[in-house]
Amino acid sequence: MEDFSSSNLMDKIVSLCRRRGFIYPSSEIYGGLANTWDFGPLGVELKNNIKKAWWKKMVYEKDNIVGLDSNIIINPQVWEASGHVSGFSDPLIECKSCHTRFRADDLLEGKYGEVITKDGHSQCPLCGGELTESKKFNLMFKTFLGPVEDAAHLVYLRPETAQGIFINFKQVLTSSRQKIPFGIAQIGKSFRNEITPGNFIFRTREFEQMELEYFVKPSESEKWHHFWQEERLNWYLDLGIKKQNLRFRPHQKEELAHYALSCVDVEYLFSFKSGEQWGELEGIANRGDYDLKTHSQHSGKDLSYFDEETNQNYLPFVIEPSAGVERSFLAFLMDAYDEDEQDGEVRTVLRLSPALAPVKVAVLPLVKNNPALVALAQQVLLDLKTKSQFLVVYDEVGSIGRRYRRQDEIGTPWCVTIDHQSLEDETVTVRDRDSLKQERVKIKDLYFKI
Ligand code: GAP
Repeated sequence: MEDFSSSNLMDKIVSLCRRRGFIYPSSEIYGGLANTWDFGPLGVELKNNIKKAWWKKMVYEKDNIVGLDSNIIINPQVWEASGHVSGFSDPLIECKSCHTRFRADDLLEGKYGEVITKDGHSQCPLCGGELTESKKFNLMFKTFLGPVEDAAHLVYLRPETAQGIFINFKQVLTSSRQKIPFGIAQIGKSFRNEITPGNFIFRTREFEQMELEYFVKPSESEKWHHFWQEERLNWYLDLGIKKQNLRFRPHQKEELAHYALSCVDVEYLFSFKSGEQWGELEGIANRGDYDLKTHSQHSGKDLSYFDEETNQNYLPFVIEPSAGVERSFLAFLMDAYDEDEQDGEVRTVLRLSPALAPVKVAVLPLVKNNPALVALAQQVLLDLKTKSQFLVVYDEVGSIGRRYRRQDEIGTPWCVTIDHQSLEDETVTVRDRDSLKQERVKIKDLYFKI
């Protein structure tokens, strides 16, 4: 394993992503659009696999968690009730000359160096112009429903998927006959007009969240908060992230979101261009009864839960593990990236968990000019494609060594090679990306082997 310097690693990841079709700068033929990215053929597979792994763990492996897919644009009263219209903002400072906007905390923390001059004036770190006082900037994107662009038709793009869950709480409870504790899981796009997006896909204005709202008895909320912290940390570990690159970070009281009683972040040691830095992968919050209470009050609908054991109604507390798909994507890639030496050449290899790897298996005929061998390879390919839930690809171009390298670089865990012996005894070789061992396997047993 190599030790990569941080900026180097970020550059290598960005270049690999572009070259192999994980992530492209968006709108490139029109000169691009700052901090927007499109996920290419391999990127969409990795993204889908991350979401599948989350859904499997959170929904399929539990018997008291159900899924939901709520609308992105919902009644704007939801955001008034939730506190996002008044409270979801960052302090912003603008330069009066060049109009660049800065997050006030970045300027105060010295991210741009010294901005106060000797005579006490604040000056823009970019052009030296005068800076405005700090003001609150709401992060929600606004648009209009229908053709009339006035206040009565103003709506927001959701800044979190969570509210879609709270407003459906009663419906899900009734229709799926759940009893507390139970959870509702949702994956989907969220939008935030971030003042300073950046660090590749770490902070963008359009991103996907994987959120669980887990409804519990108020007296048991601390217990469940701990449970979900362990559960979520293990999810990253089980999918291959190295332990030393993960940590919990409890929030200080001053930094808690307006809805949270307490919150613990799962952080990853990212390699940004500026250096190694712990960054939030997901927040695990105890939201108390904040949301159900405020929606009960604003909607006038009773959102309490009737507990058959105690014969009482109460508002459940909510434990919320809320993860970002793109941040996980970046962490999985950074953690998996490796280079080693093979036959005197540097081999780039993504040691991604097979559950996440965009291509699960590559089928490779040893040579392409033997029709019988190619026909058998096509047959193996078709069989694997039909049985498998994942992407299986075929490659006959170039030497077998080069083809292995191409698959290593995108993290394909297994390469199946059809050679001359395959025609005689119906066996193929299965090459393992990490051990580089090749095992001969009967074609009929192949599917079970991988
Ligand atoms: N419902 C709670 C909530 O939204 P959050 O900590 O603001 O909490 C949860 O967001 C997760 O969503 C973050 O941990 C991060 O992974 C992801 N996320 C938030 N803002 C993001 C952004 N601008 N770009 C990419 N991911 C973001």
